Amino acid sequence: MIKVSASIMCGNSMKYGEELRRLEEANVDLIHFDMMDGSFVPNIAMGLYLLEAMKKNTNIPFDVHLAAWEPSRYYEEIAGYGVEYLSIHAEAVKHLHRDIQKINSLGMGAGVVLNPATNANVLEYIIEDIKMVTVMTVDPGFAGQKFIPSQLKKIQEVKKMAEKYNKDLLISVDGNINANTIPNCVANGANVLVAGTSSIFKGDDADYKKLVEIMKESV
Ligand code: DX5
Ligand code: ZN
Repeated sequence: MIKVSASIMCGNSMKYGEELRRLEEANVDLIHFDMMDGSFVPNIAMGLYLLEAMKKNTNIPFDVHLAAWEPSRYYEEIAGYGVEYLSIHAEAVKHLHRDIQKINSLGMGAGVVLNPATNANVLEYIIEDIKMVTVMTVDPGFAGQKFIPSQLKKIQEVKKMAEKYNKDLLISVDGNINANTIPNCVANGANVLVAGTSSIFKGDDADYKKLVEIMKESV
């Protein structure tokens, strides 16, 4: 079952309430909420207050992508908002196993994000403890970038590990995901599609429901 996770960072920042209504009508499965610290990634995006407000404003489950150094500073706060999935970067922590246990203990589904140059084998000793892996198909920080084809091989490697150790693992792809890039991502094992500027968020008059259908039809 393919899930669409709408990257709300790509929405109209002056109309987030309206964007959430449109995404509800479009039946997206998840809200992908990009939090960026301006240091681990070169952009600053979407802080705690906005996460709290948005979480109160919709029933769509949240897939938080925390692109920040020392992410453990925020786990309790984010869990307190009722966030369903919290994904941290393997490259941003010294003790990935401890961080994953902490996120799980707070009742959230723990996820690991892998940057384009990071090998899938970092998952080897924690793949059974996580609910989601996000394979970055662009360098994290900005929307509107080009898909990195080398990541298709990594998706396949993650899928092989999931088949052996974690059959229910959500395998998400994040960055320039659209009707052209979706077929190969899904064929290699992706089952969560992060929808940004190249798929759903095409402006105030875009038909989100239709665009989500196109994504799901292109698998
Ligand atoms: C980039 C973010 C992505 C991005 C997706 O760092 O993680 O979620 O917003 O946007 P597109 O689909 O335009 O690449
Ligand atoms: Zn993201």
